[in-house]
Amino acid sequence: MGSIESNTLLFSSEFIDPSVADSLAPDYALRALKPADYSAGFLQVLAGLTTVGTISAETFNRHFEFLLSRPGEYFVLVIENLLTGKIVATGTLLVERKFIHECGRVGHIEDIAVDTNERGKKLGLKIIHALDYIGQKTGCYKNILDCSPHNEQFYVKCGYSNDGFEMVKRF
Ligand SMILES: CC(C)(COP(=O)(O)OP(=O)(O)OC[C@H]1O[C@@H](n2cnc3c(N)ncnc32)[C@H](O)[C@@H]1OP(=O)(O)O)[C@@H](O)C(=O)NCCC(=O)NCCS
Repeated sequence: MGSIESNTLLFSSEFIDPSVADSLAPDYALRALKPADYSAGFLQVLAGLTTVGTISAETFNRHFEFLLSRPGEYFVLVIENLLTGKIVATGTLLVERKFIHECGRVGHIEDIAVDTNERGKKLGLKIIHALDYIGQKTGCYKNILDCSPHNEQFYVKCGYSNDGFEMVKRF
């Protein structure tokens, strides 16, 4: 690995919701992403969401270092199965700093994915609750997300409500 230590956490454990962490079975751990997760199936979990493509360890570490250089902005959470050492779920909160609402902050929930073999165990719900905690702790006045219609009821079960629709222009 390059200059960065493989067990460097992307953000401090003070942003980990203790009640969500305690609610996990003993062989699961909720924590920030670290470079070692490259070899622990993190990208494979994301591949269950969309195209990830080919990312070398070097590129992964460079990207991790960029995120690390923006404290308070990128929170990539993972749940690790401690028995296998594999990542089984992930989700990201991106904290946007706005001018409106007196320079308010909005949390953007992104890239929610649970390993196909681990779905239906409330891991997705726990990731969302843990991202809600980070949103509140970083002073966001709301968390928002885009999702496909077939996932709407999952987010309703996580306490979210439909507030409009998403527009896109792809480049
Ligand atoms: C969507 C996803 C994250 C859900 O994770 P999960 O761990 O399987 O879901 P949970 O076990 O936490 O589900 C919580 C509740 O939502 C329900 N639920 C989960 N996915 C659902 C869906 N797609 N539609 C309706 N309800 C759903 C569960 O039945 C459960 O309900 P219950 O409390 O009444 O039992 C997971 O299926 C996944 O990774 N999908 C592929 C990637 C993806 O689509 N990500 C979302 C991008 S917007």
